[in-house]
Amino acid sequence: MHEENPAPTTPPALFTWEFAADPYPAYAWLREHSPVHWTRLPSGVDAWLVTRYADAKQALADPRLSKNPARHHERSSAESPAGRSAHAKGKVGIPGERSAELMTHLLNIDPPDHTRLRRLVSKAFTPRRVAEFAPRVSELTDRLIDAFAERGEVDLIHEFAFPLPIYAICDMLGVPAEDQDDFRDWAGMMIRHGGGPRGGVARSVKKMRRYLAELIHRKRADLGDDLISGLIRASDHGEHLTESEAAAMAFILLFAGFETTVNLIGNGTYALLRNPGQRERLHRALAEGDETLLASGVEELLRYDGPVELATWRFAVEPVTIGGQSIATGDPVLVVLAAADRDPARFADPGTLDLARGDNQHLGYGHGIHYCLGAPLARLEAQTALATLFRRLPDVRLAAEPDDLRWRGGLIMRGLRTLPVEFTPSKI
Ligand code: HEM
Repeated sequence: MHEENPAPTTPPALFTWEFAADPYPAYAWLREHSPVHWTRLPSGVDAWLVTRYADAKQALADPRLSKNPARHHERSSAESPAGRSAHAKGKVGIPGERSAELMTHLLNIDPPDHTRLRRLVSKAFTPRRVAEFAPRVSELTDRLIDAFAERGEVDLIHEFAFPLPIYAICDMLGVPAEDQDDFRDWAGMMIRHGGGPRGGVARSVKKMRRYLAELIHRKRADLGDDLISGLIRASDHGEHLTESEAAAMAFILLFAGFETTVNLIGNGTYALLRNPGQRERLHRALAEGDETLLASGVEELLRYDGPVELATWRFAVEPVTIGGQSIATGDPVLVVLAAADRDPARFADPGTLDLARGDNQHLGYGHGIHYCLGAPLARLEAQTALATLFRRLPDVRLAAEPDDLRWRGGLIMRGLRTLPVEFTPSKI
């Protein structure tokens, strides 16, 4: 992937299949010529896209940009630039997410509710809990590789990047092993058809929600060491999560935590396969027992081609100016993390993958009060997955032409549909 600047007078086509395959030239154009850009999204909703690093960082932390979808006011035709009226109410949330309980999760609320819920969940979802989970993630990773190591070929998305995060978060939440394949199916439906509010996605969300509500109800009577029990137990100044808050919280941990991690492992592996020099460097460091390059490398993979292309929705609650552009009350604002993280004003040589990059304060996990709660778990999973994969299958290589690979077309998430690879079969 390389950055090119299309002709300055031609606004780039956004949200086409070509754009999904390589959005970076279009983002380079926007950063340079229209850094805060009003556009119509494929759903029919109009929104501002913020593409420069400094503006993105400001917008992510700006309290005048609310996370509450009720603050979204569609512009009337009279206010909108010609032909830009949208009738797209309800198109700004999690696909299929309609129930009142599920709407009240961290990514949809503002202080003081956000402060209270985040404090409570942080008491249960601690860095220590994640660190103690490391052996389990290694075990899961090895088990998944065992299943295809003797075959010499595999679709790494389907058999590796996808199941690892779903089993990991299920385990951590305390979903019994015998029910985890149901989650794999529901999550698969959501990842394959994400973006459509109807049909299978909505049914999968409903099943997951019902399952989690029942599980929480059962656990309340029999608390254990798992994260759901932790959520039930968590209290702050005598306050607890209600059952429906705990269900919404478990759901958002699953929802925010699985597709993102699938795509970090997928995009990260793909980037390493396409940058043999960097991969060799990582291989050597790991062989010498040096894990610092693994840690900085996963951060660089997040910056270079991270899974969250656009941060989630924000809505101006009063007139705001970002990057010199006035934004009206009620307008939706989408911060393009993928564009900000390749801003040459912030990162030297931004289109180059450099696993040892210093001063790498990328926005791949967001910024401000909504900064990713699951970052320690995501780091653990991605570091374990990449290190184990390249150690166990040292000659793993792409089994398709890069131009033949298909990227998912969703708005927020960036990831490959498949990642076929081949390697010398190895005995378990
Ligand atoms: C590579 C993997 C991941 C990436 C790149 C990622 C990225 C992000 C980003 C960019 C945000 C902020 C969104 C915004 O401000 O609009 C966010 C928030 C969040 N993430 Fe992650 N995430 C990852 C994995 C996880 C995992 C594993 C979990 C939990 C198990 C998780 C849970 C959350 C939650 C709960 C929030 C909302 C926090 C809040 O609103 O206070 N994420 N994540």
